[in-house]
Amino acid sequence: MDLLEKARRYEEENRISVKERPVFHVTPTVGWMNDPNGFSVYQGKVHLFYQYYPYDTKWGPMHWGHQVTGDMVHWQECKAALAPDKEYDKDGCFSGSAIETAKGHVLLYTGVAIDKGQERQNQCIAIGDGSEYRKTADNPVVTGEMLPEGFSRRDFRDPKIWKDGDCYYLVAGSRDEHGNGQVVLFSSMDLYNWKYEGVLAHSGGEIGSMWECPDFFSLDGTDVLICSPQDMKAKGFEFHNGNNAVYFLGSYDKERKIFTKGKPVSLDYGLDFYAPQTTCLPDGRRVLIAWMQSWDNPFIPEGQKWKGMMTLPRELAVKNGRLIQTPVRELERYWKNKVSYRNEQIEGERQFEGISGRIVDFTVEILSGSFQEFSVDVAANQEYFTRFTIFKDKGIIEADRTYSGVARDIACIRRARIASSGERLKLRFVMDRNSVELFVNDGEMALSAAIDTPLEAQEIRLACDGSAVVNMEKYDIGL
Ligand code: FRU
Repeated sequence: MDLLEKARRYEEENRISVKERPVFHVTPTVGWMNDPNGFSVYQGKVHLFYQYYPYDTKWGPMHWGHQVTGDMVHWQECKAALAPDKEYDKDGCFSGSAIETAKGHVLLYTGVAIDKGQERQNQCIAIGDGSEYRKTADNPVVTGEMLPEGFSRRDFRDPKIWKDGDCYYLVAGSRDEHGNGQVVLFSSMDLYNWKYEGVLAHSGGEIGSMWECPDFFSLDGTDVLICSPQDMKAKGFEFHNGNNAVYFLGSYDKERKIFTKGKPVSLDYGLDFYAPQTTCLPDGRRVLIAWMQSWDNPFIPEGQKWKGMMTLPRELAVKNGRLIQTPVRELERYWKNKVSYRNEQIEGERQFEGISGRIVDFTVEILSGSFQEFSVDVAANQEYFTRFTIFKDKGIIEADRTYSGVARDIACIRRARIASSGERLKLRFVMDRNSVELFVNDGEMALSAAIDTPLEAQEIRLACDGSAVVNMEKYDIGL
């Protein structure tokens, strides 16, 4: 049996019930998932592929899993799209992207082949109709040999494609002759013949090592480069040790193909967020989705048959020199059972009738107050909680999942500087059984965390060491 058929049969026979998984976040139907891939619109539907190993809850030879949505919330499971079944990708179909063309839905991915201990990463295409994809006879279409002398042939992956006028472009992660991360640019008129155009952006030896999963687009008059640098060192409150996901705002000179970039900024200040990818919806919205996990926290509760999930798709905007992220507005269509409170005083700890749940959209807005610390516990009961704390005078927000039921994780706390100062503070929590995503001040910052908390922990508790006045609004999300 061929490898794709085998994977499809396996997922068909072992599909995990939706009751055991998050409701509106993409998870694998069985097995392991990492990076989002091929996030794109094809024939009016939004397609999402992902790094996928159906046979275990650990990373293995990479396949591409596949799901489709008509509204960004309700995802339909499709059959696995790619398996590592060719000589040039026998050790994995690594991350990549997709685009709608007159030829069909084109997937562009990294084919990994290890021969005599030497790993090669080359870029390959597969063309399909939205459900079946065929790898072309011309693969690989971009090889490491097309890069300048000295650039790594091994670390050359994760192509992101777009079209400008008649020309296709791709950016891919790469390493220069000194081992520094960078993003390289290629162009093509026909998808098969590609030309090396140069280095679009470079780490300067300062921003981690290999730059994985680049994405490049223009938004609100600004050019934006996203990438996921490996092995960064913690810096102030901005970055954590290890693999981070960052963005640079800047300006792109199309003629000279040079991107002048500003400083790197974290895309998310929580504990689980990596390898984001964006697409542009038919109505013009630029939407981002990321893997809501980290390579350093791959542990799962015993008995769970899937591992890895995506964040909620987030609408992007550039405002006041920052990338703003807000949950896709379609989520509001699924709001049920509104509960709201106005001008409530929080002194010490308080809970409110109807403010609880694990599949919810909950906003608390601090209107005024005199306090040092204000915290929100979610997914809480006697034993468990995941806590988000505002340290007002320090201007810091902290995410703490020490007591969320994590199986193994030494570091469970992350702190970040609150982007804007001001009295009012709005915290919107979107929760879906196994995760919490917090959006601060209408998307100025996002903090995401996977939580393995038993579902009986349903409470939401507010606490303040002084006194604060808040408004609250909570909806269940019902699909
Ligand atoms: C990022 C990454 C990519 C690679 C893929 C392999 O998380 O390491 O660079 O293509 O995962 O699964």
